[in-house]
Amino acid sequence: MNNKLKLWENYQLTDINRMAPRSSYNTYFSANDKQVRNYQLLNGTWKFKFLDAPEYAPKDFQTIDFDDTSWENITVPSNWQLQGYGKMHYSDLWYNFPINPPHVPSENPTGLYRRNFTLDSLRKDEQYIIGFDGVDSAFEVYLNDEYVGFSKGARLASEFDVTNYLHEGDNTIAVRVVQWSDGTYLEDQDMWWLSGLFRDVKLYSRPQNGLYDFRIRTYLHDNYTNGELVVTPTFIVNDNQKITYQLTKDNQVVFEKTMAGNTSLDEYIDNVQLWSAEIPTLYDLTLTVTDQDKIIEVVKQKVGFRQIEIVGKTFLVNGVAVKLKGVNMHDYSATEGRVMKKDDFLKNILLMKNSNINAIRTSHYSKAPIFYDLCDELGMYVIDETDLECHGFELTERYDWITDDPKWQLAYVDRMRRTLQRDKNHPSIIMWSLGNESSFGDNFRAMAAYCRSEDPTRLVHYEGDFDAEVTDVYSTMYTWLEHDSKLTMDQVIQKTQKPHILCEYAHSMGNGPGNLKEYQDLFYEHEQLQGGFIWEWFDQGIASEKDGQVYYRYGGDFGDVPNNSNFCIDGLIRPDGRPSTALTEVKKTFEPFQIKVIDLPTLQIEVFNRLDFQTSKAFQFNYLLEEDGKNIASGELKIAEILPHHSAKTKLAIQLPEFAQDKLYVLHIQTRLNTENDWFTGDSLSDSAIVLQRPQNTFNHQNNFPITVNEDSLYIDLQVDQNQYRFDKISGKFSFVHADNPIITDGIKMNFWRAPIDNDMELLNDYYHKYFLNLWHESTIEVQLHQLDNGDYQVIMEKMVGTTNSGWYYNIQQEYTVHQDGSFDFNVNGIASGKLDSAPEMLPRIGVALQLPNNYQQVTYRGQGPTENYADSCQASYLGVFDTTVDDLFVDYVKPQENGNHMSTDLIDLKSERNQIRIKAFDPLNFSAANYTDQSLELAKHTIDLEKSNAVNLYIDFKQNGLGTNSCGQNQLKKYRCKFDDFNFGFNFELK
Ligand code: GAL
Ligand code: MG
Repeated sequence: MNNKLKLWENYQLTDINRMAPRSSYNTYFSANDKQVRNYQLLNGTWKFKFLDAPEYAPKDFQTIDFDDTSWENITVPSNWQLQGYGKMHYSDLWYNFPINPPHVPSENPTGLYRRNFTLDSLRKDEQYIIGFDGVDSAFEVYLNDEYVGFSKGARLASEFDVTNYLHEGDNTIAVRVVQWSDGTYLEDQDMWWLSGLFRDVKLYSRPQNGLYDFRIRTYLHDNYTNGELVVTPTFIVNDNQKITYQLTKDNQVVFEKTMAGNTSLDEYIDNVQLWSAEIPTLYDLTLTVTDQDKIIEVVKQKVGFRQIEIVGKTFLVNGVAVKLKGVNMHDYSATEGRVMKKDDFLKNILLMKNSNINAIRTSHYSKAPIFYDLCDELGMYVIDETDLECHGFELTERYDWITDDPKWQLAYVDRMRRTLQRDKNHPSIIMWSLGNESSFGDNFRAMAAYCRSEDPTRLVHYEGDFDAEVTDVYSTMYTWLEHDSKLTMDQVIQKTQKPHILCEYAHSMGNGPGNLKEYQDLFYEHEQLQGGFIWEWFDQGIASEKDGQVYYRYGGDFGDVPNNSNFCIDGLIRPDGRPSTALTEVKKTFEPFQIKVIDLPTLQIEVFNRLDFQTSKAFQFNYLLEEDGKNIASGELKIAEILPHHSAKTKLAIQLPEFAQDKLYVLHIQTRLNTENDWFTGDSLSDSAIVLQRPQNTFNHQNNFPITVNEDSLYIDLQVDQNQYRFDKISGKFSFVHADNPIITDGIKMNFWRAPIDNDMELLNDYYHKYFLNLWHESTIEVQLHQLDNGDYQVIMEKMVGTTNSGWYYNIQQEYTVHQDGSFDFNVNGIASGKLDSAPEMLPRIGVALQLPNNYQQVTYRGQGPTENYADSCQASYLGVFDTTVDDLFVDYVKPQENGNHMSTDLIDLKSERNQIRIKAFDPLNFSAANYTDQSLELAKHTIDLEKSNAVNLYIDFKQNGLGTNSCGQNQLKKYRCKFDDFNFGFNFELK
């Protein structure tokens, strides 16, 4: 079928009248100007008309006199779906229409935008430009009734020359934006489908005979000490213009040189200060352009000296094989969709810097220009990815349908060209990325060739080039650490002939990711592994409200079909900007200084400087001694200088106090930058906790009270002072009443299930329909009462505990020992029994569940905290004694799920207004407590669906399964699995 192509389906037309792409820079009339030349933001309130298709636009909607009073108002920038127009839709890779490139649906949601603006004076000799930083997806522009042009490439910049259409005084601009265009086939990123003028619209000018563009390149010489600056200017017409280049650093002139405009500057700078993400030194370059000795413009540009090269299987920045500690960042706002302002970028980059993140991949499209300025200034390595993904084709079995079709080459290369040309002068960008998930073919070869010829100073990246045929780095995503048939990191290490990066890994969906440490250890161990980019920075939920409560919607919540549900809630940052547990894990995993204990008694440690450029001299090392979680001593540590990528052994010169026998002593060693800079907020950047003394629980029971016993054919009742214990000999249930107040009812239940986490998603079908892991049955075989020699009583229950229709089950022996001091011990032994072969490979957990009265809200625990932790996600937590509440122990994932586990806990106090429950583990266990039942967590799709339970739900686990990151990638590593194995654990329970 070859229908006639509509304008917005003409894939061989990249634009009409769009200016050739060039770098984004600021030009001024004179050196002292603060205001960019004739700069006027056209953001703000526009008139807006929403249509079902572009053809429905009134014929004269672009005219000056068109009556738009009946139109609505819309804010620019915005995505119209977040302003109440069109449909919200989230899908990962589906095009939400039949795939028939370049055709798109005739019902094509369209926005007409109009606004007036005034121009005080129109200067001759100036070229006036209207710039659009991002319009999703294709658009036509009119100014004062005149057709200006047409562009596409939703997240790419478009500039139009409007000199001939602009009026002094009043002007009317009109824009027609379509949601679907042939460009949509190249814009199939995993995100909300959002449209409109979503980035800045601006008017500015340049002198007709001034610079059109310029290119900056820097090289380093003499072992990276001396720099070379090459600036290549472009003029439309080059007559006799001259450029005076002045380079300054901290207002000191480094050099000043005047050159003819048709030559390049090539200048050497001795002892140049280098730019890196760690030390982002920038110089100021001023380009003063003169024509016949008259200054026609002054351009101000930041310059960072740095050099990227490939040596063997590594790439070097300034001679160093750096490690990328990166994240993938989409454009995202919980309320505004993909609108991000300067402050939003700033806030997020600052949080990244303070979380030891040093790199961002602009997944999967270029960002607004200000983003790159901030990365230059604050120090971030950037993989600048162009706006290109055609993932939906994967499901047509012709994944390379358009990727390998020469007729689409123009469209592909145009995208790369626009990204590269606009962003080429940013030192932060170290790689160009050709796009994402679009198979591989000739059009990618052409894009790579374009990058190479235009910019040999940077590397080319594209994960879809599986064999790294045209890329400089071998890039993979979600590569497994262990698997029988999938590609694993071991194989990558064996196979790669090029530097390797994981452009995506550690899928941070819901509770997780696990295994951050394993990946980081590999990166440090192998030179050719140069790090990776965690998927992803933001949880992309949409802020919503119900009954005064804010919650976040995801795919399917807007009636959008088909959708990928909460697959967009997979970030390190919550929709409201709060860091998730995962970010604290990331911060710790990426910490600049790692500490290993060599000899505890003599406090011998080894400190690894994991930075690429900074020595330890830039940091202050402090220690902090905690006794049962309270700081009892602190001070500065003197550490001899440790060079980057090096380690040193040292003995800590700390005078330790006498230790009390029953207390926990933990020594924290923290580092902070010792100089102020633009990003450091003052919190420690690394924190290592060294356990100096861990007390053992002691169990001394006084024989205070006599135990009275009552037994009949159904029950065993034991009474100690005000405590009544009842054992049901038929059901095997246990209850505990204190002074007529029920403390434990329906107890103590074996518990092998947890509210599924997103990383369990691949297991759920088997969990629910094969192993019925959500349906456990306890059957009591025998209950016996014994009196012990010391007068205590012991009730032993033999049980069989298995799931629906299972041939595998646990033989359980529960042992309750009631002491004469009123407390009791609970001990449970489980033997994996039955048809072991038919058992699942993993259990969610092995433990017990107790429901306690809901007034026991104050919690103190001695264990791993303060953040939640699991076997494969426990870097940031440490042993301590923590005071908290049941509410604060809860981690409110956007889609509720298992959360709030604390490993290695051996003491839990739960306090009500009057009483205190103390649980002392025989050996450290896991615990969590919540004001919600697991069942409520499991059923809730959003936080607002959670139903408060009328009890404190206490979970004590012998083991919890790891988290893994199997929502996209590695599942629970074997060593972190909770297997169907024998177990034994117990604790003493006392009510005071
Ligand atoms: C990757 C993809 C990302 C995102 C992620 C899953 O395959 O590149 O865009 O979809 O998976 O969240
Ligand atoms: Mg995709």
